[in-house]
Amino acid sequence: MAPHTLSLLTFFSSLALFPLVLVSSRSLSTPSSRTCILNVTASLHQAKYSSSVTDQSETSIDSPTSSALFTLNLHPRDSLVVHNSSCLYEVSYGDGSYTVGDFIKETLTFDGGDTVEGVALGCGHSNEGLFIGAGGLLGLGGGALSLPSQLNASSFSYCLVDRDSNSASTLEFNSDDSPSQDSVSAPMVKNRQMDTFYYLGITGITVGGETLEVPENAFKIDNDGNGGVIIDSGTAVTRLESAVYELLRREFRKGASHLATAEGVAIFDTCYDLRGQSSVAVPAVELEFAGGKTLQLPAKNFMIPVDLEGTFCFAFAGTASSLSIIGNVQQQGTRVRFDLVNSLVTFEPNKC
Ligand SMILES: *[C@@H]1O[C@H](CO)[C@@H](O)[C@H](O)[C@H]1NC(C)=O
Ligand SMILES: *[C@@H]1O[C@H](CO)[C@@H](O)[C@H](O)[C@H]1NC(C)=O
Ligand SMILES: *[C@@H]1O[C@H](CO)[C@@H](O)[C@H](O)[C@H]1NC(C)=O
Repeated sequence: MAPHTLSLLTFFSSLALFPLVLVSSRSLSTPSSRTCILNVTASLHQAKYSSSVTDQSETSIDSPTSSALFTLNLHPRDSLVVHNSSCLYEVSYGDGSYTVGDFIKETLTFDGGDTVEGVALGCGHSNEGLFIGAGGLLGLGGGALSLPSQLNASSFSYCLVDRDSNSASTLEFNSDDSPSQDSVSAPMVKNRQMDTFYYLGITGITVGGETLEVPENAFKIDNDGNGGVIIDSGTAVTRLESAVYELLRREFRKGASHLATAEGVAIFDTCYDLRGQSSVAVPAVELEFAGGKTLQLPAKNFMIPVDLEGTFCFAFAGTASSLSIIGNVQQQGTRVRFDLVNSLVTFEPNKC
């Protein structure tokens, strides 16, 4: 099948959705770096051109949205042929939002003109929750009804531009560009109990060059299908099992003790006052994958401005759930490629 490309609207205020999925981050690995540089000026400059960052970090957490700008014609609901014996669907998401409506089939037309007929989708009549004006949700998960499954895609990839960028993000199916040299791959782990999620084989997290001493099995799926780490395009901020988050926070604070602290904001409990600074060194945060590859997150994917004055917060949070989620803030600026045939997730920095 020919590659299909969609342009996505840039402003992914994020779907807390579970049926979508993905992740990643950018300046990949230089071997176990102790610090990396946050360009405070650049982050603040960008924040000034976005709508309130504070609102975003509060509302986008786990809220569905993610607008698509691909070449689909959007028809008024009344013009759709809804058969009398219509089929009802109902989907609910991790943040409590839900959509209910008619389950229908439509023809999708991609950039470039390829069309695919008979794609099953939901025409929502009752959509409740933080959809923030989104025109719809695109399901990229591993279940039978997701778009990649319906397209029989062997791979797909997306690159989410910075949340305040004006450029379009892109989503591609079946493209066969070979990954760049600085790409990092992680094995995708299957969970028979939950086929919609993409689990990552994560073996460790390092902060400032130190590997966190996490409980054994902290990143593993247990025999009942609980736990593990998924990558999701629909969750904004990465959530880690609380024991792991507390270790991460402790190491980060230790390595960032040269910075002036600030009050916590919304779900963030580790914030800094960077007023007047143009750039600062912060502890490097790296994810280690089964297979030995390491992905270093760019500083701006985990130190994010929460106001226009120079308050930045460490953009991770804990969760009471045993399921950890790598969210889209941590994936910005990185092309995340899902090789569904070889069960690999590849992160390519600066490939938007
Ligand atoms: C920070 O980013 C600005 C652009 O916004 C650039 O002019 C400046 O050189 C960068 N500073 C560093 C230390 O990279
Ligand atoms: C569908 O419903 C309309 C009115 O609600 C009715 O006139 C029509 O006969 C129905 N069609 C079928 C195929 O049942
Ligand atoms: C996907 O595969 C199924 C089963 O082989 C086939 O019926 C369907 O037409 C395929 N869809 C596309 C978009 O190629």
